Amino acid sequence: MRLSLPAALCLASTVASFAVDDHPWRAPSSSDHRSPCPLLNSLANHGFLPRSGRNITSEELIGALSASINLDPSVAEGPTALALTTSKTGNPDTFDLDNLDQHGVIEHDASLSRADTVFGDNSSLNLTIWNETKSFFDGETISVSEAGKARIARIRSSAAINPQFSLLEGDQQSSLFETAFYLIVFGNGTEARTSWVNIFFEQERLPYAEGYTPAATPIMIETLLDVAGKVAAVP
Ligand code: HEM
Ligand SMILES: *[C@@H]1O[C@H](CO)[C@@H](O)[C@H](O)[C@H]1NC(C)=O
Ligand SMILES: *[C@@H]1O[C@H](CO)[C@@H](O)[C@H](O)[C@H]1NC(C)=O
Ligand SMILES: *[C@@H]1O[C@H](CO)[C@@H](O)[C@H](O)[C@H]1NC(C)=O
Ligand SMILES: *[C@@H]1O[C@H](CO)[C@@H](O)[C@H](O)[C@H]1NC(C)=O
Ligand SMILES: *[C@@H]1O[C@H](CO)[C@@H](O)[C@H](O)[C@H]1NC(C)=O
Repeated sequence: MRLSLPAALCLASTVASFAVDDHPWRAPSSSDHRSPCPLLNSLANHGFLPRSGRNITSEELIGALSASINLDPSVAEGPTALALTTSKTGNPDTFDLDNLDQHGVIEHDASLSRADTVFGDNSSLNLTIWNETKSFFDGETISVSEAGKARIARIRSSAAINPQFSLLEGDQQSSLFETAFYLIVFGNGTEARTSWVNIFFEQERLPYAEGYTPAATPIMIETLLDVAGKVAAVP
């Protein structure tokens, strides 16, 4: 079947509005818990995860990642297991989003939008840091090269100002995956839409209203590794 352009647009907006209607974005209340991960925060803000950010189980997290951005459960399993190791809820089968701010588990220095632990708040958006990252995004789309250079710049400037700077092997992997993730989720892995990436980091919102729709096929580990490899190769 070949759809005319207006029909295709109409279909796209129908799909998007279902997701928006079922999962309206709401800013967190002051008692809601949030994390250093802009995606998990976005999922809580849309109600894919409990809006409280509390008592999250692995089933809930893996299901939310699949329902929201079509991340294949096999990709979600590893980071979900790691997330549960940060649990401070008293129940080892659940965690609160802010448990993820423990330095050295997943949280690491040289984030794209958060300050290093040594400077205090390692979890909420820091506009000074984010401005530095954004200065590499100068067009409508962000290329692998721009994303890779933004990542390296943050590593260099953190290393320059943080006397306790550290980015161990596992942290470097996480950092590469994080950049690859936004290139894949808000683009096609080769380039991402700058306005969507900005909305995601700045509002912790999935940009449905601006045309975002989840990937048509589940995001698989091969794609993540491929894009992370390309990011790692950026000089
Ligand atoms: C179970 C799944 C996930 C867990 C437990 C998780 C956890 C985390 C944590 C703890 C951080 C903080 C790292 C730091 O110090 O910068 C982080 C960062 C990040 N996460 Fe997630 N994440 C998950 C999935 C995802 C997915 C699917 C995306 C897709 C867009 C994503 C996007 C990001 C990005 C872009 C950052 C970097 C933020 C920055 O550098 O400022 N995450 N994640
Ligand atoms: C989370 O679980 C704890 C312990 O089971 C409970 O006391 C608390 O009320 C729960 N919080 C929310 C927001 O569900
Ligand atoms: C943002 O990060 C910078 C650099 O690490 C730090 O000096 C500043 O205090 C942070 N701002 C806030 C509001 O935490
Ligand atoms: C940041 O990191 C430290 C060390 O892991 C942690 O104890 C602290 O509460 C964190 N949270 C925030 C919001 O900075
Ligand atoms: C970030 O950049 C914007 C736009 O250039 C500017 O208005 C704002 O003051 C900057 N914020 C910080 C904290 O540097
Ligand atoms: C991604 O999208 C851009 C622009 O639409 C296109 O040039 C590029 O070939 C696409 N890459 C892949 C891997 O689909």
